[in-house]
Amino acid sequence: MTSVKDGCSPQGQCGCCTVLVDGKPRVACVTPLRRVAGRSVTTVDGLPAGRRDALVDAFVAHGASQCGFCTPGILCRLAAHEDGADVVAVEASLLAHLCRCTGWRTVVDAGVAALDPSRSPAAPGPGSPAPTAVVDGAERRAAMEGGVAQQVGADVVLGRGGFSADTAPRGALVAVPDGAGDWAVAATLQAARALVGKVQGRRSGQRVHPPIEVPAGEWALTLATSWVEPGYLEPDASWCEPGGEPSSPLANGGAFGAKSDSPAPAAARMLADRHGATVLAVLSREDVVRLGAKRPPVAAGVRADGTGVLRVARTPGIAEAVASAGPGLVVQEVDVIGPPTSAQVRAAGWAEAAVLLAGLRAMRDGPPPAGRATATVSAPAGGTAEATVTVNPEGLATAVEVTVFAGAALDEVVLRSYVTGAAHMALGWVTTEGLAVDDDGVPEDLTIRSWGILRARDTPPVAVHLAQAPAGAPAVAVSDATFAAVAAATWIALGLPPAWPTSRGAPR
Ligand code: FES
Ligand code: FES
Repeated sequence: MTSVKDGCSPQGQCGCCTVLVDGKPRVACVTPLRRVAGRSVTTVDGLPAGRRDALVDAFVAHGASQCGFCTPGILCRLAAHEDGADVVAVEASLLAHLCRCTGWRTVVDAGVAALDPSRSPAAPGPGSPAPTAVVDGAERRAAMEGGVAQQVGADVVLGRGGFSADTAPRGALVAVPDGAGDWAVAATLQAARALVGKVQGRRSGQRVHPPIEVPAGEWALTLATSWVEPGYLEPDASWCEPGGEPSSPLANGGAFGAKSDSPAPAAARMLADRHGATVLAVLSREDVVRLGAKRPPVAAGVRADGTGVLRVARTPGIAEAVASAGPGLVVQEVDVIGPPTSAQVRAAGWAEAAVLLAGLRAMRDGPPPAGRATATVSAPAGGTAEATVTVNPEGLATAVEVTVFAGAALDEVVLRSYVTGAAHMALGWVTTEGLAVDDDGVPEDLTIRSWGILRARDTPPVAVHLAQAPAGAPAVAVSDATFAAVAAATWIALGLPPAWPTSRGAPR
């Protein structure tokens, strides 16, 4: 049953494996088999057709599923709701789930629309976007924003996005990292994990310390950040036949560049050749934390004229990325003991430079008033976003408004979905997200709940405006510009505090 996803088992924290047991939502990965003896277990495939179709239609109409890895579990939980659930009830249900792509608001809107008995199930609510009509445009826009080819539509919502762990041939051997730089191979995932004898970590809530010192100097503005776990929901997986090409771990997107250097394809190919059999190499949640690429930490000081020094964990390509947005910054790459980093992670390096320069612009007329701020960022590759963020005295965002200059929209639903997701990720980056790393450079936050990803309930409304494009204007990606603009506006609204995350430990 491949619609039931393994995002974090056996941590029970992501909700991707949610099924209904006698009609009640249960997280399958922490439900012992003996507890379901004699009871009925329903996956998204077995939901009553009317209920399932209403949910699927609403999710498509609202752009509430991008990679689709989290979605079948969410559908199961929502299907168990009484009709007429309001925003508060839907948000409460989503506490048991995580979604990295969508920024939650579209999911909440879709859930409320699908559970509203007064509406035609497929109809979006007042002011909601029209259902996706042109799949080609939708997929073009999704690929542009997500950076990889992506399917859009009902199949994605139902969890059929082509994930490697689902598409591996029956009978493939399974390989898992053994913790010593090699892989343990067995006939099943359970057997492979048993060989390694690993108990997944459950620590969380450690303090996050920016690991690099801000360079000495007379600075108008400084900023220090920590490692950030990209937090994608589908753990890396790839399968390969002997002598064949490994399947892509990018599947249906959702990793925002962070799987570009995944170890899974090379391992699957090497092990398939070694064993003369098809091998599925698959990481667990804890493996992803230890082995997956992180956003590199930085520590920077800038002068009022935009010159300064940005120190960053040594990472191939990061100096060029910083220079593309902050040509006045001297980049110093430093060796920091810690998890692997990558310049492929969403807007790494240039977003930090853009945020610093936006902070300087906001200071031109003296310290900006805290509470609400606007910032505009153009991505080096094109695409511009203007973001306005309002924060409360607790330091958390309460409203976000984004205007994007995306050229031809191609598909408004998909475009709004990606912009909302990028805004959500930016809010988390500034305020709550970070990865605690011990003195030996080993990540301490081994569970998916410990990275500070904002929950649906903590994510403010995100209003997305599409700037009118001249006729014939080409489509251009705007998610990364949105990410940087929302981060900058949030930082300015908070009063430009010198270290991120600014509110670790806030409700989540
Ligand atoms: S896989 Fe079961 S909750 Fe994440
Ligand atoms: S759509 Fe939710 S994690 Fe990708």
